[in-house]
Amino acid sequence: MTGDSHYILREATPDELEQTRRGHFSSWAGGLSVEQYIGREIHIANNVSAEHGGVKCWILTSSVEPCRVLCSCETMGKPAFVLSVKDGKEQAREVTSYIIGSVFTPEQNRRNGYASIMLDLLARRLAMECEFDALYSDLGKKFYADKGWKPHPSNHISLPPAASIVKPSGVKLLEDRDLPLLCNRDVDSIQSRYHETRLQPNVDACIVYLPKYHVIRWHHSREEYLSKITSGKIPIIKGAISPSGERWCIWNRNFNTLDPSLKKLWILRMVDMEGDNDMVEEEKVDEIMALLEAAQEQAWLWGMTEVLLWSPSKRVVKAASKILGKQVEVVEREMDSICSLRWNGDKGQDANVIWDLNEKFAWC
Ligand SMILES: CC(C)(COP(=O)(O)OP(=O)(O)OC[C@H]1O[C@@H](n2cnc3c(N)ncnc32)[C@H](O)[C@@H]1OP(=O)(O)O)[C@@H](O)C(=O)NCCC(=O)NCCS
Repeated sequence: MTGDSHYILREATPDELEQTRRGHFSSWAGGLSVEQYIGREIHIANNVSAEHGGVKCWILTSSVEPCRVLCSCETMGKPAFVLSVKDGKEQAREVTSYIIGSVFTPEQNRRNGYASIMLDLLARRLAMECEFDALYSDLGKKFYADKGWKPHPSNHISLPPAASIVKPSGVKLLEDRDLPLLCNRDVDSIQSRYHETRLQPNVDACIVYLPKYHVIRWHHSREEYLSKITSGKIPIIKGAISPSGERWCIWNRNFNTLDPSLKKLWILRMVDMEGDNDMVEEEKVDEIMALLEAAQEQAWLWGMTEVLLWSPSKRVVKAASKILGKQVEVVEREMDSICSLRWNGDKGQDANVIWDLNEKFAWC
C-alpha cells in the first residue's frame, strides 16, 4: 500500500456479498456446506421482513485496488427505544439501531490494521444514522472497546435438558401464530415503562432493543432452516406461557452438525409482566420455574445439550435455583458474546448508558 492510497468503506455488490460469505464460511458454518451456509442467509432474507433496513454487507477496499476486498462485516437494522436528553429535555422515543456482525478479514490480509480501519469508518458512518449501535464480541473485551464499543454486563444461566416427569402445571406451549400478539404486548409494555421512567441522576441514557415479532422471526427462520437440514423436521413449539398469562418465554434451538455439544436451546426473551394480579412472590417464581421446565423438556426432546438464558432477573435466578435444588451460577462471559455498545449521542464515550433487557433476542 502506498502513502497516497486511502481506504474506502462501501456497501458490497451482490457478487462481493457472496464472495465475502464464501470467505467466512469455514469460520462460522457449523457443519453446513458452503451452499447451505449462503442459502441460510438468503432464506432468512426472503422470509423475514426487512423493516429497519435489513442486512447490509460492508467492505473495505483501497483506492489503489478498489475491487480487492480487504475485510468485511455486516450490519442489521433493529428497532430500539431510548430514553435520553434531546433538545434540552428527557425524551423516550423509538429509533433504529444497528447490530454489527460477521467482522472478518481473510487470513492472508490479517494484522495489517484492516479490521480496525473498517470499524473506524463504519462507526463514523453509523454515528450519522443512529444514536447507538452494538455488537457481540467473540474476541474478548479489549479489541472492540479500544474502538469505542464499550463492554456491558454479559451474563447467563444454564440449565440441563430434562424430560419432565410431571407436566408443568397449566403451562401452555406457544406456536408461531401465538407470537405476534404476545410480542406486541411485550413491546407496548416496554414503551409505556420508558415513557413513565425518569433517568437516574448519574445515567445519561437507557436503551433497549425491542423484541418485536419480526426480530423474533429472524431467529426462528434461521432455526427452521437449520433444523430442516439437520433433522428434516421443523420445530413447531416456540415457547411457553404461564397460567396467569403474565409470564412467558420465547426460545429457539441452535443446530450444529459439526459439534453436537453446541446444540443449545436459547431463551430469546423471558417476559415477566408485573401485571395487576394479586399473586404472591412465591407463585410468580413458580410460574417462571414451570416455563424453564418447559424449555428443559424441549431441549431434551430435540437432543440439545443445555438451556441458556441471558441477563436473568432475580426472579429467574430464584426459579432456576429452585429447579436445580442449589444456587444457579450466573456466568459472566469474558471472551465470547460480549455485549458491546457504542453511544453516538451527547458525551460520546463518556456517557453512562444502561443497556436494558440485554437478552438473546437482540443478537444476530
Ligand atoms: C478478528 C479479525 C477480524 C481481525 O482482523 P485484522 O484485520 O487482522 O485486525 P487488525 O489488523 O485491525 O487488528 C489485529 C488485532 O486484532 C486482535 N485480534 C485478532 N484476533 C483476535 C482474537 N482471536 N482474540 C482477541 N483479539 C484478536 C488482536 O488485538 C490483533 O492485534 P495483534 O495482531 O497485535 O495481536 C480477524 O482476525 C478475523 O477475521 N478473525 C476470524 C473471524 C472473527 O473472529 N471475527 C470476529 C468476530 S467478533
